[in-house]
Amino acid sequence: MRALPFALVLLAAASPALAQEPHHMPGEEAVEPYVPAPENAGATPFEGTEMWLAFGQTEGVSRIVDQTLDASVADPRTADIFAATDMVRLRRTLKEQFCYILGGGCVYTGRSMADAHDDIGLQASDFAILVEHLQAAMRDQGVPFRQQNRFLAKLAPMRPDTVTR
Ligand code: HEM
Repeated sequence: MRALPFALVLLAAASPALAQEPHHMPGEEAVEPYVPAPENAGATPFEGTEMWLAFGQTEGVSRIVDQTLDASVADPRTADIFAATDMVRLRRTLKEQFCYILGGGCVYTGRSMADAHDDIGLQASDFAILVEHLQAAMRDQGVPFRQQNRFLAKLAPMRPDTVTR
């Protein structure tokens, strides 16, 4: 009779701890968690909805990022730069970054611009080529010229962190 309440006390003390214990399915331990890191995004977001609407919100930004990356990978001048890149991750983090900066309220989970580009040896000409493809993608998405330029002006200060040669 005396053993039962003792067992119940033990159970009550142990179960909240068990419920809160982080756990993984077998094989998942190696997956890095996505850590929110707005300070890594390289720019502060535009205020209001003007930019987010001009870029066509989630669908528009997704198309712009995909087109920019597809064109950069297909471009013989920059193809090699992306050869060893995890493109699934890059698409995700670049979409997060653009969405965050454009005021779409996304959470950026990638590295800082310096950390992401420090060992790929980009040149000024690589930067110009990416901007070319981004401009074409924004134009195809129907982003007005004024908002294209406001966005490019947000990215320009990141140039010294990405171009290292
Ligand atoms: C302002 C200009 C740029 C911005 C905003 C930008 C943004 C980003 C972002 C968000 C990431 C992913 C970080 C992560 O997932 O942790 C990244 C990585 C990368 N970027 Fe850029 N980038 C810029 C310029 C460029 C240029 C000019 C090139 C080459 C033409 C380039 C090539 C790459 C590559 C290859 C990676 C992946 C590196 C790796 O595999 O570890 N980026 N960039």
